[in-house]
Amino acid sequence: GETVSVGLLGLGTVGSGVVQMITDHQKELQQRIGCPVEVRKILVQDMEKERDVQVDSSLLTKDADDIIFDSDIDVVIEAIGGIEKAQSLILKALNNKKHVVTANKDLMALNGGELLSAARENDCDLFYEASVAGGIPILRSLVEGLSSDRITKMMGIVNGTTNYILTKMSKNKLSFEDVLKKAQELGFAEADPTSDIEGLDAARKMVILSTLGYSMKFGLEDVDVEGITRVSEEDIAYSKRLGYTMKLIGLAKADNGSVEISVQPTLLPNEHPLSSVNDEYNAVYVYGEAVGETMFYGPGAGQLPTATAVVADLVAVIKNMRLGVNGKSVILPQNEKKLKTAED
Ligand code: NDP
Ligand code: HSE
Repeated sequence: GETVSVGLLGLGTVGSGVVQMITDHQKELQQRIGCPVEVRKILVQDMEKERDVQVDSSLLTKDADDIIFDSDIDVVIEAIGGIEKAQSLILKALNNKKHVVTANKDLMALNGGELLSAARENDCDLFYEASVAGGIPILRSLVEGLSSDRITKMMGIVNGTTNYILTKMSKNKLSFEDVLKKAQELGFAEADPTSDIEGLDAARKMVILSTLGYSMKFGLEDVDVEGITRVSEEDIAYSKRLGYTMKLIGLAKADNGSVEISVQPTLLPNEHPLSSVNDEYNAVYVYGEAVGETMFYGPGAGQLPTATAVVADLVAVIKNMRLGVNGKSVILPQNEKKLKTAED
């Protein structure tokens, strides 16, 4: 078949991983979608910067319009992060009938509804599997694999940076600051790591999981959030002696139709399965009324795990292009939001 052309916004940790995956896995991709895939143009800020991946410098541009208005580009992958610019580029791309894949949980948690509606109106796909739990296909599992069930609870570790920090503080007795620096070097942390360590990144992921799991439109304001900045090395060492492991746990629980969402540092007994989820790994338990307990485990951050999810979304877009059903599977919340109150 004819080559599918991709425009990539951003060539940092995630963007470089996407280029590498599309290059290294070209044969597998072609087998699955029946045509070659190429990255045709890449938006960056700094044309001279050294990159994690080798790309022909003629592919780079500082002008997003080179991508959005290129009629040969079918799919735009957004990996610049942040809110305003990413949002305006995604909307512009959708309005120009380009399918969009994004890893941007900040934006999807804040304005996912509006963007998804724009996608639907334009018969375009907007997929965001990489936005929650990196390489774990948790969103697709929720909306497809578990679509027949009634979700009662979702609980787990959904931020790689803080889990990496807590693991290294506990096992290697390293200081908070040193480990945070290491997590940044490894590409796990957000551009502004405050959102990781203050629990906001995890909260945004719980917003996305809850919106899909309970089909209600939640926002960051609905989450009771505390990060790990107040957790000391002494707290960790002391709890360890008592048989407990400190983890940053996201929880979204439905009770009689109303939902409670939180992100809190939590002490878990050492025998609890989440206690042995280490480093940048994530794990999410999903409880369904019919299925019971399911657990999803895997790398929650980092270049190639995240790129796996992004490129899998690209494959889904291309399969939909073949079937002519782009935009048809966009899911918007159906139920009225109901939060748990003190009286419940
Ligand atoms: P990086 O900071 O590593 O990369 C960002 C890239 O976008 C850079 O190449 C930068 O260009 C470019 N960029 C940023 N702002 C602009 C702008 N205004 N105009 C043009 N280009 C711009 O970020 P990540 O790759 O880590 O993250 C990207 C997205 O993926 C974020 O939404 C993040 O939350 C999400 N994500 C990240 C994961 C991870 O493990 N890192 C995992 C899951 C999701 P230049 O290089 O020239 O400076
Ligand atoms: N900063 C995020 C994390 C990246 O550490 O989990 C993956 O979403």
